[in-house]
Amino acid sequence: MTIKVGLVGGTGYTGAELMRLVAGHPELRLDCVTARELSGKVVSDTHPQLRGVVDLVFSTVDNERLAACDVVFTATPHGVAMRLVPILLAANPALKVIDLSADFRLHDASEWERWYGEPHTAPEQLAEAVYGLPEYHREAIAKAQLVANPGCYPTAVILGLAPLLESGLVRPAPLFASAVSGTSGAGRIPRVAQLLSEAGGGVSAYNASGHRHLPEIEQALREQNAVAELSFVPHLAPMGRGIHATLCAQLIADMADEKTLHHTLQERYAHEPFVDVMPLGGHPRSGDLRGGNLCRLAIHRPQGRGVVVVLSAIDNLVKGAAGQALQNMNLMFGLPESQGLGVGGLAP
Ligand SMILES: NC(=O)c1ccc[n+]([C@@H]2O[C@H](COP(=O)([O-])OP(=O)(O)OC[C@H]3O[C@@H](n4cnc5c(N)ncnc54)[C@H](OP(=O)(O)O)[C@@H]3O)[C@@H](O)[C@H]2O)c1
Repeated sequence: MTIKVGLVGGTGYTGAELMRLVAGHPELRLDCVTARELSGKVVSDTHPQLRGVVDLVFSTVDNERLAACDVVFTATPHGVAMRLVPILLAANPALKVIDLSADFRLHDASEWERWYGEPHTAPEQLAEAVYGLPEYHREAIAKAQLVANPGCYPTAVILGLAPLLESGLVRPAPLFASAVSGTSGAGRIPRVAQLLSEAGGGVSAYNASGHRHLPEIEQALREQNAVAELSFVPHLAPMGRGIHATLCAQLIADMADEKTLHHTLQERYAHEPFVDVMPLGGHPRSGDLRGGNLCRLAIHRPQGRGVVVVLSAIDNLVKGAAGQALQNMNLMFGLPESQGLGVGGLAP
């Protein structure tokens, strides 16, 4: 089988990572990659790491050409896919779409409007989209036509907290997540906060009173317990890639010692190819996961007190974006879930 792939948003970080992964997948052929200003230019001039790997020029956003693909990935800012995807699906009812943006992640259109500041333009597709976290929605993803690929922070936070809620060992509220991201998390469009001279010297929190990933995380955690309530504080750290999240939950009474908590996490992910639970006492390092499609977790119960701490690390561009998108695509096409996703990360 050769699957014809279209990519909207080829000049960005997640688009580049997706091209790298698609090039290494034996069943895929990249047919078109869009860029508005750079259409006609060689892809590897913008992404030199892809020289000799991707031999294409950027195209304009040509709906007819995109609709002629078997699968289209949209790696665009929010607000783009919700306008484009209905047109592509109308033109080719057999097309499959994986959107890396936030456009189809929230089930409730009014909630989307509240957080993204404009009405959702494709409520019908919003209702049909499947949230693409394979560890929780594998069967629905396999049958889906449109998959909403999770955000990077949500991937790290949900994979760490959901098993604890699922097990009933912790209180669903309050939950706490403090997460650190590298500058690539904000995309490739230049911003002052992302300059080396601004971001390079320290760590700072942002959007502590309400980050757009919060409703997405709570929506997923509420599948495990309807009252899940999270305080989420993201931080920007002086690194290119990676997310490290520290997640805290209160134990219900004294229900579980550290070994039981560790066993709960280990059992939940025992058969998951892309979630690694470290031995007791472990501390995941985001740097070890660069380039790999892996979420690495560790669990602690400091001083034997009533708070459980889960540490969760991913590469924001791989398990937090392009790698997870490819994992979802494998499921949607009935391919082995790990195909094209290799093993391990890069360190140092
Ligand atoms: N960065 C991450 O770690 C990460 C992780 C998970 C999810 N995401 C999400 O994935 C999406 C892409 O993120 P990114 O970091 O790759 O962003 P980025 O580096 O800013 O790239 C955005 C891409 O979208 C294209 N684009 C912008 N407006 C467009 C339009 N109206 N029509 C067609 N193409 C358009 C841009 O291409 P041209 O302007 O050249 O046409 C560019 O290639 C975002 O929604 C982001 O929230 C990002």
